[in-house]
Amino acid sequence: MTSRTVQPVPVSRRTVLAGLAAAAAACAAGPAAAPSKALLSVPTVDGLSVQVVVDAATFGPFLPDLELPGLKVERTVRVASAGPAVMSKKSLIAEFGLCLWARSQKGDASRTVLVDFAYTPGAVANNLELLGLDPSEIDASMLSHGHLDHYGGFAGALGNPGDRQVPLIVGGEEVFCERLAMLGPSAGSGTLMGALDRDALRRAGFDVQIRAEPALLAEHAFTTGTIPLASAERAAIPTQMLPGTGCELAGLAPGKRGFPMLPDDGEHELAACYLVRGLGLVVIVSCGHRGVLNSVRRAQEVSGVSQIHAVMGGFHLVRPRTPEEAKETAALMAKLDPAWIVPMHCTGEDFTAEAERLMPGRVIRPYVGNRLTFAA
Ligand SMILES: [Fe+2]
Repeated sequence: MTSRTVQPVPVSRRTVLAGLAAAAAACAAGPAAAPSKALLSVPTVDGLSVQVVVDAATFGPFLPDLELPGLKVERTVRVASAGPAVMSKKSLIAEFGLCLWARSQKGDASRTVLVDFAYTPGAVANNLELLGLDPSEIDASMLSHGHLDHYGGFAGALGNPGDRQVPLIVGGEEVFCERLAMLGPSAGSGTLMGALDRDALRRAGFDVQIRAEPALLAEHAFTTGTIPLASAERAAIPTQMLPGTGCELAGLAPGKRGFPMLPDDGEHELAACYLVRGLGLVVIVSCGHRGVLNSVRRAQEVSGVSQIHAVMGGFHLVRPRTPEEAKETAALMAKLDPAWIVPMHCTGEDFTAEAERLMPGRVIRPYVGNRLTFAA
């Protein structure tokens, strides 16, 4: 990363007040009920396994496997050729990034979707190999948003793709915009995060498809499309966006074109979702910048299905969100009544501890290599 002297744009008081007013109104209403009319005809899969390729910790092998209603958790990692990975010469790599391998079955058909690419190509390639996951099996992929900890490792996902082009769904042109990270010691002035290079994506074997509307993913999954801010949650994103740097101005919303820099509202963020037969929705929220509740609400709206079986991924209930927001989100999540909650990546301990208190036995903490299988 390169230090930068450009000053970030302050969020206006008017924007903050408008956001608080909307949040207060939504909060008073509680979690919105799912509408009955679907926006998309979504498929129903017979089963789904989500394996953690990269996340922040590798503690899993010391925990027991679990057989739970509608959920099997496999902790013990196997290497395709060498038995248990816990004592092999090579180790699984954890880092602050997220990459998930989702394999679904529908009748005789299986599909594999890669959700996000973690932070570094080395971690993705290393862990795919150790876990015995073959990149040639990937049917489609989705990038949740344009942050380095989700796209940085894309070059390690497909190995040598040759002429192969795997569909990659992203939520908007702004995924390609340069961003300034407002984190750590440089939080006041920001540090350049870099921009996602679409030519490099093509060379790495990805066929980028920009889909702001809900879309099917490998015929088995669906994306949320743009996630409305419909619950008490606000968009909370520790980056600012540089319109026109890395991204094409013409592809951005008209209101975002005339500024050198903007607070990032995550409008392009997507969640990946499955409808599992007999169970309900499994919503994979990669980073939750638009709000995990908003993401779940959108999955319900798109599918017309209200039953939530599992919510998993990064919920971003850390700064710039507050511990109070994390606890409030846990309380509202409990009202949604998912069977399973699987906090990962950027969720944070405030939410996780509160969710464990409010929904004892229903919070699963996964680690790199763990495989979670959802089937009735
Ligand atoms: Fe993230």
